[in-house]
Amino acid sequence: MRILGIESSCDETAAAVVEDGVSILSSVVASQLATHARYGGVVPELASREHLRAIVPVVRLALDESKSTYADLSAIAVTAGPGLVGSLLVGLTFAKSLSFARGIPLIGVNHIEGHVHAVVLEAKQRGTPVEFPALALIVSGGHTHLFETRADFTYRLLGKTRDDAAGEAFDKVAKLLGFGYPGGPVIDLLAPYGNSRAVPFTLAKMKGNALDFSFSGLKTAVLRWTQARDLAGEIQKRKKLLADHPRPTAEQWLAITPQETLDLLASFQGTVIQELLRRAAAAAECMGARSLIISGGVACNSGLRAAAIARHLPYPVHFPSPALSTDNAAMIAAAAFPKLARGEFADLSLAASASLPLA
Ligand code: KG4
Ligand code: ZN
Repeated sequence: MRILGIESSCDETAAAVVEDGVSILSSVVASQLATHARYGGVVPELASREHLRAIVPVVRLALDESKSTYADLSAIAVTAGPGLVGSLLVGLTFAKSLSFARGIPLIGVNHIEGHVHAVVLEAKQRGTPVEFPALALIVSGGHTHLFETRADFTYRLLGKTRDDAAGEAFDKVAKLLGFGYPGGPVIDLLAPYGNSRAVPFTLAKMKGNALDFSFSGLKTAVLRWTQARDLAGEIQKRKKLLADHPRPTAEQWLAITPQETLDLLASFQGTVIQELLRRAAAAAECMGARSLIISGGVACNSGLRAAAIARHLPYPVHFPSPALSTDNAAMIAAAAFPKLARGEFADLSLAASASLPLA
């Protein structure tokens, strides 16, 4: 059974064809990074316009690469939320139109559930399926959530960020220091050259639900650190480097970045990793998890991967491959497969929802 997945919740227009919830026959992602980079973040109006431009060729390419015709599709799965409403509407309207015109069943998918399925799908492909109940830590530019995930893909929210998402904190800190957008990959690249104990950031203490996250205090501490120094010269050099080279190498960054700034990046990243892992481990223990899933753009972070392994947790930890960590449509098609089996179809009233809850 082949499902066409369509994803347009943020700044990637993606389409994929997945067979039987496990074989990725095609996965096409059109990134808008170049459009948003100069603004230091995603500009919603520009994102909607880019989705409109990309949606037809992206879906066509996904069908061509999978050697599928519309007649081969058992369903069309589309992200209904959470995300930017203008962006969601492009994928959703396209999917509904296709479903109506071709008589193909429509399935609405929650974007966060997609990130969970990126891991479930690859674990199945490796022959080591995820054991349930699992604790899912979804960390991206828009989300930092802990979900108890059961074998029937029902969910219970155990904790979430009260302010910034972890990826957002990476992006804001990078922007503050002139490292461009997105910030996660650059900080990940440079953190190994700094001392993660050099700047002693305090960990967030949460009143109420101890499994909630907060990154705004850390962001403010980084702001204070920068205000206490004269960084104008080094920030200027980095902006110039970015103008000449859209994606500088580690060597190029290192040549214009003092050790003190590298130490700050390492300490910031180390603190985010500690915040994520200590709460994930506490949540996993509290629900009796048999595995830990870490997914979303920040799951690409090599420091996070190394730290999760170094913890020697008493259950397996599953990360997606880098291609399935950031937004893609294969995860949306995979998430729709159990819904297809259960006959959970949507009709044309399916609406885009900026804050669609999962649990
Ligand atoms: O899942 P994603 O593609 O989009 C959202 O749903 O938000 O995640 C993008 C986020 C950005 O904030 C980006 O800075 C972060 O993931 N990210 C990383 C890394 N690669 C991407 N954060 C830390 N380390 C990385 N290697
Ligand atoms: Zn995402």
